[in-house]
Amino acid sequence: GLSASAALARRTPFTGAELRSAVPLPPAFQVPLPLPSVLAPVSRSGGADRYEITQREATVEILPGVRTPLWTYEGAFPGPTIESRRGRPVTVTHRNDLPVPTVVHLHGGRTPAESDGYPTDLVLPEGWPDAAHVTHTGAGGPGHVMHDPRAVLTKLSRDYTFPLDQRPALLWYHDHRMDFTAPAIWRGLAGLHIVRDDAEDSLGLPAGRRELPLMIADRAFTADGDLDYPALDPTSRERPGVREPYLAGVLGDVILVNGAPWPVYEADAARYRLRILNASNARHYELEAITDDGRRLDLVQIGADQGLLAAPVTHRLLPIAPAERYDVIIDFSGVRVGSRVRVVNRLGSGRTRDVMAFRVAREVTDDSRIPRVLSTDLPTWRRSDAVRVRDFSFRAGRMHGGHGWLIGGLPFDPARSDVTAGFGDVEVWRLIADVHHPVHLHLVGFRVLSRRGRPPLPHDAGLKDTVSLRPGESVEIITRFDGYRGRYLFHCHNAEHEDMGMMANLEII
Ligand code: C2O
Ligand code: CU
Repeated sequence: GLSASAALARRTPFTGAELRSAVPLPPAFQVPLPLPSVLAPVSRSGGADRYEITQREATVEILPGVRTPLWTYEGAFPGPTIESRRGRPVTVTHRNDLPVPTVVHLHGGRTPAESDGYPTDLVLPEGWPDAAHVTHTGAGGPGHVMHDPRAVLTKLSRDYTFPLDQRPALLWYHDHRMDFTAPAIWRGLAGLHIVRDDAEDSLGLPAGRRELPLMIADRAFTADGDLDYPALDPTSRERPGVREPYLAGVLGDVILVNGAPWPVYEADAARYRLRILNASNARHYELEAITDDGRRLDLVQIGADQGLLAAPVTHRLLPIAPAERYDVIIDFSGVRVGSRVRVVNRLGSGRTRDVMAFRVAREVTDDSRIPRVLSTDLPTWRRSDAVRVRDFSFRAGRMHGGHGWLIGGLPFDPARSDVTAGFGDVEVWRLIADVHHPVHLHLVGFRVLSRRGRPPLPHDAGLKDTVSLRPGESVEIITRFDGYRGRYLFHCHNAEHEDMGMMANLEII
């Protein structure tokens, strides 16, 4: 029952697992905020954009003076950003030069199943023996082999095709290999993919230099400058799973934004559009922006995971769980030139309280605006539209003789059918959690209907693809299963929970 699982969860502390870096860390707000480079297509012919990405090892200076080996997309962390237009298809050819198999998933993409990055649809490195050597030993610890030959579709390189017939939004691509997603993302396999359209462009929102993607992620570093991760054994090809003390999720003591530690950005005294992604494996944030004289600036939310809200929502405190995105306007025009605005995480302590800072550098004219109506195309599903209500518990439990994380009492099994939904059906899902679980559905966006039987919170507005279940909470969401038929997933986006079983199949027929 819930109390047994809560007791188990208490023994696997959520915050106790924070790793301590063994290198000197830089002071906050010294390193300039990097902006990920935008990837150039190799071709734009035939009504589609084609890109090529090589996944390879690269050594990157994340901490000043410290060289850190990473797994990267195109040598960079974050990987290069892909900029797309709504409805214009994109094909990305991924080649794998890493020492391990990988899988690419476009998070938030409305993608046909064959390009969605199912966790056993591997891209193998050159020279990898064969599919039979691909075992999944992460979740169950040593000895656990989950091998489904029917599901394993392996290739040396893979074309992922994204129709992007969807609302403009900040999406992100990241690794999704079964049982090994958490260490792969931790080591650097994450990048942004932005979808835009003419309607959004015409709103007059801050744009160009005044639109900043902010990928927030925590990490920890060993004395050698490697990224610390409790289970990564660089000498072994079959990487063992996370150790039990890290069952709750791996936390680092360094906060990175766009791959830089506690960076600073020289800003105009004007409005900025901040496109915030929490790409952390397990860390939750409650962000606030505080001026030198102690004022908290408004964070005016204009968009959620799946694009623009109907109307802006003003926050002083913005909770953001792993994989969630918030599209936020911040206005520095009332901030004294030469002073700073610190972005802090109210849930952090010590050094993990700071995230980044803006130094307001100059007065400017600003003709951006925040329209009162942002979009008019949000789905308006009502409870009475639902043909089905399903219940799912997200709880700790026993799996393969150890501890794991279960949905409806079961750990992930690619060979099992969990949910079968009819194409076009509207469904209500009731999700209940023991501890914090950010729950993500592939393919579809959803709306939050209720929390603890009450109306959703202000930050639940809009169309989402990831919802943060807080400890003990039950949350109802409503969605419509459309777009494509095929096998998809839903899972917890605490990446360690995901690797340790908290994932299930969603088949749309
Ligand atoms: Cu961000 Cu199934 O993933
Ligand atoms: Cu979880």
